[in-house]
Amino acid sequence: MAASPVRITVTGAAGNIAYSLLWRLAAGEVFGKGTRVELRLLEIPEALKATEGVAMELGDSAFPLLSDVVVTDDAAKAFDGTNAAFLVGAKPRGKGMERSDLLAENGRIFGPQGKAINEQAAEDVRVLVVGNPANTNALIASSNAPDVPAERFHALMRLDHNRALSQLAQRLGCATNEIENVAVWGNHSATQFPDLTNATVAGKKVIDTLDPSWYTKEFIPRVAKRGSEIIEVRGSSSAASAASAAVDHMRDWIHGSAGWATAAVPSDGSYGIDEGLVCGFPTVAENGSYRIIDDLELNDFQRERIEASVAELRSEREAVADLL
Ligand code: NAD
Ligand code: LMR
Repeated sequence: MAASPVRITVTGAAGNIAYSLLWRLAAGEVFGKGTRVELRLLEIPEALKATEGVAMELGDSAFPLLSDVVVTDDAAKAFDGTNAAFLVGAKPRGKGMERSDLLAENGRIFGPQGKAINEQAAEDVRVLVVGNPANTNALIASSNAPDVPAERFHALMRLDHNRALSQLAQRLGCATNEIENVAVWGNHSATQFPDLTNATVAGKKVIDTLDPSWYTKEFIPRVAKRGSEIIEVRGSSSAASAASAAVDHMRDWIHGSAGWATAAVPSDGSYGIDEGLVCGFPTVAENGSYRIIDDLELNDFQRERIEASVAELRSEREAVADLL
């Protein structure tokens, strides 16, 4: 008999990111082409009809690995026995807003979902928070799930990582997969620090070959503010690239990464970053988990940039103290 399917929950299933993410999941891009998947789609009541439409289209795509699609507005049902949860459902920001402006409204979503995960999810559950502000929302969800190890709650910063790879590859005229040892530290916000100190191309360090003013005045702000740039140019927030990064994050969590990857994971106190803050780190995914690379020598510039973003994470944590 075929093994039972893995159960994957996606919240915000009628939204823009989900419209790309669900197809990648149903095609087997996270768990692999030999693993059947069952999708549980969680939405708010007003969006259930549209979610039924999404489920109809998933069916019409005739994915051989897709064993079932369940549409619900009941978190207990959505997270029942789930092995992987993508917490996407949350309001996106509009032009001129910072992601932290969403905290008061979106933060309230993640406590109840954390509780439902605590009560319903499978023992091996992995949770990736995409909804903004993602790092602090992941902290809220995790704090409300005391029986699930905190290291199973991550926030999406692979998009920032992919943006950094893309910008550097364009600058150097190479392919993104020739680049290694790039990381994005801190918060998924404009304070983040896309760090090229250790970056290599074809095995050779590149930092000393880069124009320092391109690095500090163009590369860092461009990556850190890319979300706003997309909103400005596209008219709405990134969707397909976010879904793609979410697939990258969860796939590597399960199967391992090819070298360094950025993941926002609960700090273990490395580099003096407060334990528990969900922070972007250089990591390697292996044996089913992301491991923080904890033995880098940091220079003053790196320390300063990391501290600025960690300070913002601390202040977000204070702002949601009642939800933790
Ligand atoms: P969207 O507005 O298109 O879709 C969001 C969906 O979530 C809507 O259908 C809405 O009904 C649903 N929703 C709201 N509250 C919910 C709840 N309590 N339970 C279940 N569903 C709920 O937005 P989008 O473009 O898909 O973006 C979703 C979120 O992801 C936003 O907060 C956005 O800022 C964030 N985002 C994060 C990253 C990242 O890299 N971390 C990248 C892009 C977007
Ligand atoms: C992004 O980085 O594209 C998302 O977080 C959306 C946003 O608000 O910038």
